[in-house]
Parts: sequence; structure tokens; C-alpha cells
Amino acid sequence: MTGVEQILKDKGIILNREGMPRHIAIIMDGNGRWATGRGMPRALGHTQGYLTVRTISHAACELGLDALTLYAFSTENWRRPKEEVDALMALIEKAMRDEVPSYHRDNIRLMVSGCLQELPQSLQNTIAEVTRETSKNTGLVVNLAINYGGRREILEAAREAAKHACAGEIEPAEITEEYFSGLLYTRGLPDPDLLIRTAGELRVSNFLLWQIAYSELWVTETLWPDFEPADLIDAIMDYQKRTRKFGKVVQAK
Ligand code: FPP
Repeated sequence: MTGVEQILKDKGIILNREGMPRHIAIIMDGNGRWATGRGMPRALGHTQGYLTVRTISHAACELGLDALTLYAFSTENWRRPKEEVDALMALIEKAMRDEVPSYHRDNIRLMVSGCLQELPQSLQNTIAEVTRETSKNTGLVVNLAINYGGRREILEAAREAAKHACAGEIEPAEITEEYFSGLLYTRGLPDPDLLIRTAGELRVSNFLLWQIAYSELWVTETLWPDFEPADLIDAIMDYQKRTRKFGKVVQAK
């Protein structure tokens, strides 16, 4: 029995397999608070956060999700102390390399969303290698948002669309939502059905601004390093109670 199946059995939960979210996005917040609350350096909170990334990625896989997008480093995170930024970059790079065998075992494909050319060269090389090495895997897509900013992503896509129009490749009127989505870092992924934020803050922090237009939101006080597969299941259970209206009027059940 897998970890997820055990949790479902212990809690007596029957998930509605027809109503599963396809794509969950997570703002992983609270690593710093987790560490400082224990008198540890903040970087140790990120190391612990990485262990949660592992557990939750594999739980998402067992749950049969198509995609899991994790906010690992925002365009605003460069404003943190240099030691913390360096520690995060090194951790992300090492984590990516270390996870390759488990990604193959679980048929996970790694994808990275963000402005990658501004990352350290060695991390760019690792991203290129690991995304290529896992590109044939057909199960869960783990999409790491690194040097990611929602406004920046939209701006870059708008510039690209303008270039296509100026080159006469497309009429401005043909720039549809679908076409525009295809110019975003997340092209090819469905929009997230569910956006989870840990550590209690009630904001979206420049994350997936275009893609979360109709996502359901779920916020927990739990700090990211303490977030467990059972919390992910709670979020999905809550999601399954929601009525998604997409702006329409929905008849009472
Ligand atoms: C927010 O917590 C978290 C981050 C800015 C980094 C997220 C990184 C990880 C979870 C670890 C590495 C990830 C991978 C993919 C290997 P915070 O530091 O803002 O916490 P605070 O609000 O309590 O200070």
C-alpha cells in the first residue's frame, strides 16, 4: 500500500477520483519561520523545505495528478541576503540532480518556469540536463518556478506576441487567450485547478497571475517544512466540495 493509500484508509476517506484536480500549484511559504522558530539559520528551513518538496511530489504522483507547480524562487527573492540566495541556488541545483533516479522510478518529468538566463550558469546547465533526461517520462510534471514572476512572464509573452505581429506572422486580432497561453513559461500545462499557500498569508505574491484566473484557493497556517501528504489530501477534499462556476450561474444541486 502506498503512503497516500494508507492515509486515505486511516482517515476513512474516499476521494472522488472523477473530481480530482489535474494541476495543483503551491506557494511554499514559511521555511524561514520554521528555522528561526527553532533557533536555526534560515537556510536550514529551506533544506527542510526541500524534504517536503520530495514527499509532496511523490504524493502528487500517487494521487495521479498531471502537474504540480512549486514556487521555489521568485524574481523578488534576489532581494534576500546574498548567503541565503546562494544557499537556495545551491540547494535547488543539488536537489534536481539527486532526484533524477526517483523521477525515473515514478515516471516524473521535470519542467522549470522562469527567466532562466539570469540564474547561475551551473544551475542553468543542470536544468537543461535534468529536463532533457526526464523529458520522455509521461507521468506527473513537476514544474519548478525559479526566478519566476507573473508580471514578468506576461510582459515577455506580450513582447513575443508583438514581435510575431510586427513580423506579419499573426494578425493582432488572432492573438487569442489560447495563443497567448502558448507563449507563457507554463505552455503545455493546464491552468492550476487549485492554488495552495502555506504559512497563512493571504496573497498571491506575483505567482501565475494569468493561469490562476479560475483556480480555487486553499490557505493553511502550516509552515511548508511541516506540510504533509495528509495536508495535501485535506486541500483536495476541500476542493472537491467547491462548485466551480467559471463565471456562470450554476443550478442548486
Ligand atoms: C518561502 O519561505 C520559501 C522560499 C522563498 C523558497 C522555497 C524553497 C524551498 C521549499 C526549498 C528548495 C526547493 C526545491 C525545489 C529544491 P520563506 O523563506 O519566505 O519563509 P518565511 O516567510 O517564514 O521567512
